[in-house]
Amino acid sequence: MCGIVGYAGKRDVVSVLFKGLTNLEYRGYDSAGMALRDDGEIKIYKTLGKLINLKNELELKKNEIHHPTSGIGHIRWATHGSPSLVNAHPHTCNCGKLAIVHNGIIENYKELREELIKKGCTFKSQTDTETIAHLVANEYSITKNLEEAVRNSVKKLQGAYAVCVMHKDVPDVIIGARKHAPMLVAIGEDENFIASDTPAIIEYTKKAIYLDDNEIAVVTKNSVKITDTEGNEIKKNIEILPFEPAALSKQGYKHFMLKEIHEQPDVIRNVLNGKLFDIDAPVILNEVKIDADTLKKLNKIKIIACGTSLHAALAGKYLIEDFAGISVEVEASSEYIYRKTTTDASTLVIGVSQSGETADTITAIKQAKSKNSHVLIITNRPDSNMARLADSLIPVNAGIEVSVAATKSYTAQLISFYLLAIHFAEIKNTLDSEFLKHLKHELIQIPSKIETILSDLKPIKECAKKFSSYKNFIYISRGINLATAYEGALKLKEISYINATGYPAGELKHGPIAMLDETMPVLAILIPGGITYEKILSNCEEAKARNAKLIALTSSDDTNIDSIFDIVLRIPKVPEILSPAMTCVPLQLLAYFIAEYLGKDVDQPRNLAKSVTVE
Ligand code: M6R
Repeated sequence: MCGIVGYAGKRDVVSVLFKGLTNLEYRGYDSAGMALRDDGEIKIYKTLGKLINLKNELELKKNEIHHPTSGIGHIRWATHGSPSLVNAHPHTCNCGKLAIVHNGIIENYKELREELIKKGCTFKSQTDTETIAHLVANEYSITKNLEEAVRNSVKKLQGAYAVCVMHKDVPDVIIGARKHAPMLVAIGEDENFIASDTPAIIEYTKKAIYLDDNEIAVVTKNSVKITDTEGNEIKKNIEILPFEPAALSKQGYKHFMLKEIHEQPDVIRNVLNGKLFDIDAPVILNEVKIDADTLKKLNKIKIIACGTSLHAALAGKYLIEDFAGISVEVEASSEYIYRKTTTDASTLVIGVSQSGETADTITAIKQAKSKNSHVLIITNRPDSNMARLADSLIPVNAGIEVSVAATKSYTAQLISFYLLAIHFAEIKNTLDSEFLKHLKHELIQIPSKIETILSDLKPIKECAKKFSSYKNFIYISRGINLATAYEGALKLKEISYINATGYPAGELKHGPIAMLDETMPVLAILIPGGITYEKILSNCEEAKARNAKLIALTSSDDTNIDSIFDIVLRIPKVPEILSPAMTCVPLQLLAYFIAEYLGKDVDQPRNLAKSVTVE
């Protein structure tokens, strides 16, 4: 949700900022802008819509840009104020000497704005960010010291911010500050960077300092100073970032989403690596600090997450209950925060998040921590805010996910839940040893079975072509694949804008069946040999009797359903309990190809952003 990059150094500043913003564009694409220190001035360029418009604008104005020595850039996902040019960042103050970019939301901006208007500030935008620009400028007019002005200003802000500030009178100094929004300082040679996330800088350096809340960074090309809000210097560790620049290229695929779908076999191998390597050995989860004693004292597990991560959590609930016999509740983070009585010291709270920055989940996790619950975080970003709050951690190692629609992070989360459920079962000794071996054996086979799915996309493409003109879909299943139905429908919704609903197959007859006719396809996920198969098949017959078109997602050993269904998509044979790690793949591809046929912007669907850092 919005992206920030700042740079002071020897390279071409416009190119560095542009590259950084390109690598962050998945976080928001309502508008983009840059402030450059050039010819002793602060020059600001902004455009509405995607980054390409800023590129064109900069090309158009190239004669007026000479040798910038530092700059800050921003891509916006609108929260306060519509997506418009006037609301695009960077924002400035009355005199235009100061430029500021901001991620987050300032909750008390209205009060501050009124005070500043009384002091003579003229506001041009509807944003909360412009308040910070006037506030810092006002403080600077008193202190004549930019660092002090930023410190004094952030003390007055309530809410979340990652801000970068530069001022005409303080050459080539960029000041960054953060609270409840991520920010890092990346260290180079004769150059330094500030960014809201690693992709912005990973092509230049792997050394970074993560700022914590209420820290301020003063950055020039040769120096980095971190202080608290009182100006006391803080010694911080320089960390080596785990990511490779290759993750940010499409590597020949048309879209990041397609590339990330194809990465799933290796992602799963990565998740299993070092945790499950021998069917006779126990699962090893080094960073999960829950022993037999703690497990015995638990009276329940609560899993909190949003979106796709919430769907992984639903499968996780099923697995933990089934394998380890512990009662699990799953709740959307944004709803959990209103539940006063459900969490205490004997509840294990599991937060699931690809980004580790989702504001709803962070708030929920903080609430759980305040109730003394042990907090386990399953995330793709072990460097994230959420991971830093964890008592126990499962890093899912899916690599940077660029496509806004989550795919490989979902399968990585699912596999993590299999490992966690087996780990708990092994501690509690709740599974038969032969079944456990069989489970582990099958789990290890999943990557190569997904490779089989990916080796023949023709049936999925044909299905996509046949159904791309339908306006509504229902995805149904029962048991553990209900999570798949929800996730498959979400994928279709978010990238093709088609109305798709995931529904428990057994609930169809309790209401939604009223909507069924030949215009509403029903996609059913059913795995032969599983405990839900026959009943889902009956529910499909009911749908067929109402003239609904039927799509089956089943396994290769299901031989007698072709006469009932209009299209049958197959995955290799797999036990039902493990099938969600595979059934999600054809549904990701179906959504992808439908969106492709419809000419949608697959990687950057409208109105969305990759990490949602506002509640
Ligand atoms: O980073 P998180 O997993 O916490 O994000 C949660 C959701 O915002 C995210 O899964 C969203 O639903 C994706 N667009 C799904 O594709």
